[in-house]
Amino acid sequence: MKIKIKGTGSAVPKLRVTNDDLSKLMDTSDEWIRSRTGIGARHLAVEETTTGLAVAAAKEALKDAEMTAEELDLIIAATVTADKFLPNLSCEVQSALGAKNAVAFDLNAACSGFLFALNTVQMYLENGVYKKALVIGAETLSKIMDWNDRSACVLFGDGAGAAVVEVDSETNCKAKQPGAANKSGILSMVQGSDGARGEVLRCDNRPVNNPFAVNDTKLSYVSMNGQEVYKFAVKTVPKVIEEAVKKAGLEVEDIDLFVLHQANLRIIESVAKRLHQPMEKFPTNLEECGNISAASVPILLDNINKHGMICEGKKIVLAGFGAGLTWGATVLVW
Ligand code: ACO
Repeated sequence: MKIKIKGTGSAVPKLRVTNDDLSKLMDTSDEWIRSRTGIGARHLAVEETTTGLAVAAAKEALKDAEMTAEELDLIIAATVTADKFLPNLSCEVQSALGAKNAVAFDLNAACSGFLFALNTVQMYLENGVYKKALVIGAETLSKIMDWNDRSACVLFGDGAGAAVVEVDSETNCKAKQPGAANKSGILSMVQGSDGARGEVLRCDNRPVNNPFAVNDTKLSYVSMNGQEVYKFAVKTVPKVIEEAVKKAGLEVEDIDLFVLHQANLRIIESVAKRLHQPMEKFPTNLEECGNISAASVPILLDNINKHGMICEGKKIVLAGFGAGLTWGATVLVW
């Protein structure tokens, strides 16, 4: 049974903040940010919320898939910046969409979140539990940034991306013909985690605080050991992609597009080099969006879908990596 992405959508806040805008607020420059990361601007929430952005992206994805919200059986949102502890983001989206037949829950795997959510959806769908699902990556990272820490806050942005995923009936018919089973839909998925290295990228939640353990710890913000994250990414991402491609029964050369988590252009260039693939196969939106954690991959996927870069039969790798540490890659044929 093959699982296909039927529609995509995305949304970013209205406010576009350039590197030059940031240099008026802190000791940084367009040259420093651009040369080290490839980031030129990011969109930051003012009136927008994680829920609002997720709903907007989801509506677009449903429209693209020509599906109604009521048809959805499952909604999984990947986020580290839900608006509320309770209820979860997925239930908020379910309510806003009127997706009353869907089961809805959230998942936190940081920048790998969309990949992990897609994999979870794939398991449900392949096992016949559900048929139609909505996968979302949505973040308002600007609210967990220390805006006095120029080493981290310049890297991130806000936004949401979504994909509607469905059991592909056409592929299932084809699958009955010998030899035709393996070349459509999601072909493979590889995931990994290394909690022992979690300290390199962290943001603490509320500490224990009750009448027996009074705690006045200040709010925590994202902190990162950039060089360690860089080393982790350039070593792990090519490996996980090669593994996923092999599992799909393909060669790296067969892949048309590599849709990577948008953390840093230098990381993407290094991955391309290690895989011996041209940069033309690696679309980016870092220039406009910065790093939006779980939302990066689905926003970029929607960008290239809307720009007509994807057509039926294209072989695509999606890959995410980030805090946890976590990483994942999937191979699909559109
Ligand atoms: N503007 C100007 N100067 C800055 C800024 C800034 N925004 N931030 C830091 N600096 C200064 C530092 O203070 C330091 O100055 P010093 O030498 O006088 O002490 C100097 O620039 C160099 O700082 P480093 O942290 O060593 O800079 P580095 O060259 O390592 O670049 C970066 C930092 C871009 C984060 C790099 O480590 C990197 O690419 N890391 C990959 C991690 C990444 O992309 N993370 C994104 C999020 S994680 C994820 O999504 C998986």
